[in-house]
Amino acid sequence: RIVYLNGEYLPEEEAQVSIFDRGFVMGDAVYEVTSVLGGKLLEFEGHMTRLERSLRELEMVCEISREEWLAIHRELLKRNELVDGGIYLQVTRGNAGDRDFHYPPAGTPPTVVLYTQSKPGLANDPKAEKGIRVISVPDLRWHRRDIKTVQLLYASMAKMAAEKAGKEDAWFVEDGFVTEGSSNNCYIVKDGKIITRQLSNDILHGITRASVLKMAAEAQMEVVERPFTIAEAQAADEAFYTSASAFVMPIVEVDGVELGTGKPGPVSKRLREIYLEESA
Ligand code: PDD
Repeated sequence: RIVYLNGEYLPEEEAQVSIFDRGFVMGDAVYEVTSVLGGKLLEFEGHMTRLERSLRELEMVCEISREEWLAIHRELLKRNELVDGGIYLQVTRGNAGDRDFHYPPAGTPPTVVLYTQSKPGLANDPKAEKGIRVISVPDLRWHRRDIKTVQLLYASMAKMAAEKAGKEDAWFVEDGFVTEGSSNNCYIVKDGKIITRQLSNDILHGITRASVLKMAAEAQMEVVERPFTIAEAQAADEAFYTSASAFVMPIVEVDGVELGTGKPGPVSKRLREIYLEESA
């Protein structure tokens, strides 16, 4: 695989980053995951707008323009002949020398890494046919979940807890309400209404979420943005999650309780279809 590191395209074995890099030492880095379907980059502008916002919120300087980001994405697609999968992008605060909590001096160059991940048949994930099952765990993450940082240890722990329980994913719960999934935004459907938590610092502002809500409104579906509880989810007709890498994923079980018929519901299936049609 050919990857991008600080202005160069290199075989992955040759791409090396310092042990003093703040991304390594402090988890001081932000990232984006952009999906690719049939060689086409999805939601590029949305991901770049969010990347710029994450950088700004952390006072990280990375002087790469939108046009340059697009050129890098395109070059990686071409060099790796990527058809289905995604591009992972990470910007760290760079090599700061000896460990120090303070940010390095202005002008320290960031470390910029991008690589492709091939996932043939990404749009035909059999999990979407069956629907997935989730467990709930307390949301013990920090309170700036709107910034897409690489500090993903708690998300990993939640996914491991789900796996140990024999389920596919975990939902985070805080003050009695679901915040989001371990790596996705979540929704319930009750009497035809789509309910999802409103945007704030408590959740990541999903790029897929924004598109799906727009598509739902265009398809005359009713959307209500408010928090919901696990009990409400268990009494819902259906549930689903959205993310760049899974699009719209039906959820059929929450903490051991089957939703509706126990199969992916019509609203989830329709939204997945619409999203994939519009991405084609
Ligand atoms: N995860 N919430 C969290 C905590 C996430 O990590 C993600 C994305 C989302 C959905 O955002 P988007 O629709 O922009 O992908 C919500 C990515 C895919 C990941 O970490 O792999």
